[in-house]
Amino acid sequence: MKQIAVLGHGVVGSGIMEVLEKNRVQVEEKAGCGVEVRYVLDRRAFPGLPYSDRFVTDFSVILEDPEVEVVAEAMGGLEPAFTYARESLSRGKSFVTSNKELVAAKGDVLLALAREKGVRFLFEASVGGGIPVIEPIHRSLGPNRIQQVAGILNGTTNFILTKMLREGTSFQDALELAQRLGYAERDPSADVEGHDACRKICILAALAFGRHFYPEDVPTRGITGVTARDAAYAARWGGSIKLIGRARRGSGGRVALEVSPMLVPGSSLLSGVGDVYNAVQVTGDMTGDVLFYGRGAGKLPTAAAVVGDIAAALREPGNDCSLFWGPADPAMLLPPEEAPSQGYFRVSGLDREELELFFPGAFFLESLEEGEEALITPPATQGELDAAARAAEAAGGRILSRFPLL
Ligand SMILES: NC(=O)c1ccc[n+]([C@@H]2O[C@H](COP(=O)([O-])OP(=O)(O)OC[C@H]3O[C@@H](n4cnc5c(N)ncnc54)[C@H](OP(=O)(O)O)[C@@H]3O)[C@@H](O)[C@H]2O)c1
Repeated sequence: MKQIAVLGHGVVGSGIMEVLEKNRVQVEEKAGCGVEVRYVLDRRAFPGLPYSDRFVTDFSVILEDPEVEVVAEAMGGLEPAFTYARESLSRGKSFVTSNKELVAAKGDVLLALAREKGVRFLFEASVGGGIPVIEPIHRSLGPNRIQQVAGILNGTTNFILTKMLREGTSFQDALELAQRLGYAERDPSADVEGHDACRKICILAALAFGRHFYPEDVPTRGITGVTARDAAYAARWGGSIKLIGRARRGSGGRVALEVSPMLVPGSSLLSGVGDVYNAVQVTGDMTGDVLFYGRGAGKLPTAAAVVGDIAAALREPGNDCSLFWGPADPAMLLPPEEAPSQGYFRVSGLDREELELFFPGAFFLESLEEGEEALITPPATQGELDAAARAAEAAGGRILSRFPLL
């Protein structure tokens, strides 16, 4: 029987206990041994549970117990999660986590420490919840030179945008519905402003391109500026608007990273991904496009991914050095203005003929409102599109919306 500890007994932490209890046979088969949770750490006590006697509030109890081999973290936040991760790894305990904030901020440091100490640092649940994506990208797609990773990485915003697109609901009404259904938190800012998706694309980019990328260096736009009118134009065009996190290999081996609402053509694999579902599309030079699709959050899907990591760390406690990326290198980031881009613009104050002067070769969508035009530019760089938008505004145009195309 091998001993583990679970940090946090909220949605995911309690789910870990449930998965371990309900699917004990499958888990132990995968782990190759019996698995026992010796400690659960939380601020609160949870009386009345069959395992209430295992709760502790002092992390040093876990750290000082030499029989605890794996620590599974589901508390969230950067601290004390980072300190607990560092201390666990330093003491030769593997550390697994569902915490994207921790991995996006400190993944390189913790991977290096795990390598040095010969133990595992695993984080499958940190991106895509229950969708296996870290391990397949790292291992199965390993022989590819990855060109692009793009994904719908946040279920709350995808639910809101789906409502806006399919039912013409306003952003505010769709957000309130998401909150009533328990999909959106009372403070939904990390979701709707794109920060959650940003952390996840940074983790995926690190896996794909081998370097740490900090969320604060990634241009990030949320969905608060998307209107039902934009959704209607997208639908007329046969596509949709999705909040996309995208990392692309650009010129000189540099990486273009962004999070933004994007106009997604109907032909894209990501276009039909609706409601709270998530999807990650990886384009490799050998394999072509691969799509990972499923429930990107939720108690049991996320907990199952954590338990998968626990089983892997128990079965193979020695460090798997190939799951690794190096520290951040600012020279790896393609400046946003140099990134290739194609834009959707909704503009008032100028007619088509005037707009053609600023956006030559643009494709105009059928206008849904007098005095307003919606257009899609030919491929350009983001800097060129910025200049065109500035020139159109100087000539009396008003840019009502602007999103890149996927
Ligand atoms: N929920 C999901 O569907 C989902 C999906 C993928 C990834 N994740 C990630 O998984 C992590 C956990 O999410 P969650 O939804 O389970 O959060 P949660 O429901 O808020 O649970 C966190 C638990 O940890 C406790 N905790 C927090 N800080 C602590 C500390 N310093 N010491 C002791 N206990 C502490 C909290 O206690 P208090 O309540 O007293 O603060 C709470 O019981 C987050 O990083 C999240 O991003 C969640």
